[in-house]
Amino acid sequence: MENVKVLVVDDEKNILESVKMVLNYEKYGVQVARDGMEAIEAFKSLLPDIVLLDVKMPGLDGLKVLQTFKTLNPTAEVIMISGHSGIEEAVEASRLGAFDFLEKPISRDKLVLTVRNAAEKISLLKENYTLRRQTEKKYELVGESPVMKALQETIRRLARSDSTVLISGDSGTGKELIARMIHQQSARSQNRFVQVNCAAIPDELIESELFGHEKGSFTGAYEKKVGKFESAHRGSIFLDEIGDLSLKAQAKVLRVLEEGEVQPVGSPEIKKVNVRVIAATNKDLEEEIRQGRFREDLYYRLNVVPLRSPSLSERREDIPLLIGHFIDYFSEENNYRRKSFSPEALQRLREHTWKGNVRELRNLVERMLIMCRGDVISGRDLPDYIGRGGAADESGLLQLGGWKEFKARSEKAFLEKKLAEFSWNVARTAREIGLPRSNLYQKMESLGIMGARQQDADEESPGP
Ligand SMILES: Nc1ncnc2c1ncn2[C@@H]1O[C@H](COP(=O)(O)OP(=O)(O)OP(=O)(O)O)[C@@H](O)[C@H]1O
Ligand SMILES: [Mg+2]
Repeated sequence: MENVKVLVVDDEKNILESVKMVLNYEKYGVQVARDGMEAIEAFKSLLPDIVLLDVKMPGLDGLKVLQTFKTLNPTAEVIMISGHSGIEEAVEASRLGAFDFLEKPISRDKLVLTVRNAAEKISLLKENYTLRRQTEKKYELVGESPVMKALQETIRRLARSDSTVLISGDSGTGKELIARMIHQQSARSQNRFVQVNCAAIPDELIESELFGHEKGSFTGAYEKKVGKFESAHRGSIFLDEIGDLSLKAQAKVLRVLEEGEVQPVGSPEIKKVNVRVIAATNKDLEEEIRQGRFREDLYYRLNVVPLRSPSLSERREDIPLLIGHFIDYFSEENNYRRKSFSPEALQRLREHTWKGNVRELRNLVERMLIMCRGDVISGRDLPDYIGRGGAADESGLLQLGGWKEFKARSEKAFLEKKLAEFSWNVARTAREIGLPRSNLYQKMESLGIMGARQQDADEESPGP
């Protein structure tokens, strides 16, 4: 309790002294004031968390002082002290936001308990506040470049409507963040945002996942299940990676969009749902339509408002801002000392071609914060491939004398780059570059590539 500050206000000197003694013993930081004016001055300079305030004082009375406190800082908790129980005053004080009442003569136990309750309430509120701020930070769409400003403006306008939105853009550019923002800024924000990763759900389960099923409707359906559309009722559903939905499932989704109805698997009942649909994909859906893998009618239904999330190379000027944002986020979350990047390192990060877009940048910043000892992360701390254009790379490699060294250096550069592109997800990288996973692990070890951390592993997991 040492960091909880208490202000005690009373015109009776012996009350001030005894209360102070008891609270000091309980390890609160205590300051006292003898009248209303003095109390307001102390309140402004001390910024107490808790105030014990006498109702009846000469000059400014307690209720007036309480009102002033509540306008100065509504989160400070005020406990009123009264002489003989004035019920009217008590009612008035709680209306004005007093936390509790203590009667004179003050019982020691009651005093300690009441102050402790107030302190607990404050610490809960503080905790909630920090959590909420972290969540807000986590989903904040950072960027001040012209393309991002325009995007944010479009999001604001879209949020006011109920129309279906299709977000396209490369991997790691923030499509999920955009979807969350649309929901957050909409009138539906008090209701749920339900996310479905269409790529992660096996074909035979997608229908029951989206629309629910009755108990016993198919082998393995042991319990009745509520579908995602139904749980998103009055809220928004986010159909992520919609380009990966099977043609059969596409037909069903089309029906929900057209009729606003869902039918759980094995149920005769048809249910009306009121859901806003936001879909996202990193595929070129028009190409998918040409290839016969995506329904044209569904595409037009979804594409009422198309939104494109720009790749990082279209907005390099946002890179320093994003780096600062991620440093703040990770430092706060892990209680790290706040580090920074040297101007040279920043320059290279700006020039780098971020194939994995913001996700790749975010992962790199996180790795650097974990791995670098000093307070300033310099160019030497960055992996070799960052911000060195292809030409420079080549000439560097071509300077090398021996075949072995050339081979090792180029393999290392290639693998580091690819791993970073796929968020250091070894399984995925191995698949993408066509190398068995165990070989990739061996290579990483023999080339001294730093430990493979499974982050952003959600790409591999079977849905939420
Ligand atoms: N503008 C941005 N500001 C802050 N963080 C961002 C921004 N864009 C992306 N990120 C972060 O980058 C990561 C990837 O973003 P997100 O998951 O939204 O990308 P995506 O476009 O959905 O990618 P994918 O197609 O691979 O699913 C997340 O950690 C996200 O918080
Ligand atoms: Mg995504």
